[in-house]
Amino acid sequence: MLPRTFLLPPRLRFGEGGIRELGAEAVRLGRRALVVSGPKTAALGRAGAAVDLLRLAGLQAEAYSGISAEPHVSHVDEGTLVGRTLGADLVVGIGGGSALDAAKAIAVQLATRSPITDCEGQDKVRAALPVLAIPTTAGTGSEVTRFTVVTRPGDDGSQVKMLIGSPLLVPRTAILDPELLLSAPPAAAAGAGVDALTHAIEAFVSDAAQPLTDDLALAAIRHLAPHLARAAKGEAQAEDLGELMLGALQAGMAFSNASVALVHGMARPLGACFGVPHGVANGLLLATVVEFNLPAAPERYARIAQALGEESTAATELVARICTACSLPDPASFGIDDARLGRLAPQMARDALRSGSPQHNPRLAGAEEIEALYRKALLPDGSQESFPRARGALE
Ligand SMILES: [Fe+2]
Repeated sequence: MLPRTFLLPPRLRFGEGGIRELGAEAVRLGRRALVVSGPKTAALGRAGAAVDLLRLAGLQAEAYSGISAEPHVSHVDEGTLVGRTLGADLVVGIGGGSALDAAKAIAVQLATRSPITDCEGQDKVRAALPVLAIPTTAGTGSEVTRFTVVTRPGDDGSQVKMLIGSPLLVPRTAILDPELLLSAPPAAAAGAGVDALTHAIEAFVSDAAQPLTDDLALAAIRHLAPHLARAAKGEAQAEDLGELMLGALQAGMAFSNASVALVHGMARPLGACFGVPHGVANGLLLATVVEFNLPAAPERYARIAQALGEESTAATELVARICTACSLPDPASFGIDDARLGRLAPQMARDALRSGSPQHNPRLAGAEEIEALYRKALLPDGSQESFPRARGALE
């Protein structure tokens, strides 16, 4: 095996009540902290509580709570203005993946004075303020990853989700407190959990996988799978929340170092064009892509099935069962139908390929195959799509 890098935040605090250590952790990183969150986190009092904890520890702190959806460049610009007024030297992100991704992008703009759109792609980030990440969902893994996703306007009035990757985006500290998951509504918990499961599966079948990421990915699947359905029904107990947070963390560590693949490549345009939340978009695509990939990596998917707890059943069926148990919304509820998908799919396939993620997939897919996968996964009569060739087989 060729030598590979493996990056993680230098400090992680995992455990119930960890949020109370925010001040002690922040003073190690800066003196003037911008707290980035969404309005729901602010309404729960968490952004204000974070500001109070930071001030108690002797830092100056202000909150920007405008991340009302998955982050857009307009949010990043607004947050940057608040940070500049404060003279921020530290960005604290608290919330779901959107808030954490926005915190990272704001940290880049504060450090470089260049628009985040200049950083689209891999390794284009020149500098970033330190980020302290506090997830309140068990899903994106953004608290440990080298990635952020920010939406920008495309040519022709469309929206494009930019994937930005850089070692400089790895948070300097992450505080993982399972008690913070208690307030997540069941639908949000289900979407986040399916996102985390997708990270683990894609990291394990990625062509950039390495032994360290393999172990983390399989452990993540084992921690996540038994607890997702209870979280989706709003019946999660403290033990479930701890397991989900641990699984999502391990999945984040795995994919940050092994990449995601075709599901994520396709999920981002689905979110940009139809407003499908990220975790739901992954869940709507996951089983179809697993079925497509299976002939190219049968041994890998057999190990995934084993980690899901049923060695004798195909991974495709197990994954479909989990997504069904999570009661994800129907594609039609986002306005996805034959006509609209037919019009948008060619551009969505191009955007998926441009992100780079599909290139790590065990079975290579061109634009036509990606369009067919969208139809198969999202349309009621899509099951008739077939894929005769398997290119890029690993095994
Ligand atoms: Fe994801």
